[in-house]
Amino acid sequence: MCPYIELVSTCDLIASRAEHIAKKHGIPNCYYSIDSMLAGAPFDLLVNTTAMPAHFEVNLAALEAGRNVWSEKPMGLRLAEVKQLLEIAQRKGVQIWPAPTMVTSPQFKFMAETIASGKLGKIYSAHATYGHEGKLWWRWFFQKGGGSLYDLGVYNVGTLTGLLGPAKSVVGMYGVSTPMRTVHPHDGPPGDVYVTSDDNTMLIIEHDNAVFSHIQTGYTYFSERDDKDISATDYTIDFTGTDGLMHLVGYDWAPHGVDITYCEQHNLKMERFCTDPGRYTWQYGASYIAECMATGKKSLITAEHGLHILEVMNAALQSQETGRRVKIESTFKWPIIT
Ligand SMILES: NC(=O)c1ccc[n+]([C@@H]2O[C@H](COP(=O)([O-])OP(=O)(O)OC[C@H]3O[C@@H](n4cnc5c(N)ncnc54)[C@H](O)[C@@H]3O)[C@@H](O)[C@H]2O)c1
Repeated sequence: MCPYIELVSTCDLIASRAEHIAKKHGIPNCYYSIDSMLAGAPFDLLVNTTAMPAHFEVNLAALEAGRNVWSEKPMGLRLAEVKQLLEIAQRKGVQIWPAPTMVTSPQFKFMAETIASGKLGKIYSAHATYGHEGKLWWRWFFQKGGGSLYDLGVYNVGTLTGLLGPAKSVVGMYGVSTPMRTVHPHDGPPGDVYVTSDDNTMLIIEHDNAVFSHIQTGYTYFSERDDKDISATDYTIDFTGTDGLMHLVGYDWAPHGVDITYCEQHNLKMERFCTDPGRYTWQYGASYIAECMATGKKSLITAEHGLHILEVMNAALQSQETGRRVKIESTFKWPIIT
């Protein structure tokens, strides 16, 4: 439970879902459209966990109504849409913050501090990977406005730009490995869907000063071990420095530690650090923001970084479609950890 949050209302276009959540958590008000919720019982922070293609319209309505927003990623699908959201937020004197949360993890902080310390020398290259089998429950995951990059690769884009700095340009490739998939909704029968978004994607990011990183993501990856989709032992991000190596153990959204290989008296040594998650979880974004709002603590998660992440992802998709490298215009305040 978050001491800074009182749940006021739930809302879903599907009435039974809104009612189920209201009953489950004892929430006093229940609505079936965002407009009626915004006109109803007053509240300070809207938590937008709608399907990706609906994020923009819901965020827009909430900001226009003068509400702060914690939004699932991405805040909108097009760059112009998200720029518009940031302008409205500023005009209305409210804020919008996007998931994901991984820049607030102790492991992100540790990796940022390790890179800044120079212990690994200078880091010019990094690699990140996140994928699974694509056993999903709703059609939108596989249609335009969904896809493996927005759904999964987004975490690695946030982590690598967060640690190595803003992207200057991007080269990307994507494909559709499986043109027809079966989805398994939580509360309905399975159904087939034609896949119209990326399900196998790779991108190379150019950061500043000849630093490059590579990300691979897809719904084409074996990932289940011990009935869990979370690997506690595998590396998902590798940094290659001029004086050492650093590996993230587990996913960046659910990290388990950081392994560092460095040279000591001509011997290679591997050591594990930062195995305590502290209060961090990938689901705690709205609680984190509520705490920031209530206490004045500065959020490490920012809308500017979210906008930059979206521009990088869209550039990767555009690169595939045009066969060209794509320049990135946006930036954000970096380093995140100072
Ligand atoms: N489920 C997960 O494990 C998970 C993990 C991380 C992030 N997310 C993100 O959370 C979001 C939701 O994911 P999900 O799996 O719960 O999707 P979902 O499709 O199961 O649920 C989304 C809900 O939003 C409702 N909705 C859609 N448009 C709406 C609108 N305009 N107004 C009100 N309600 C509306 C739908 O009726 C549906 O009940 C996505 O952005 C997803 O990427 C999900």
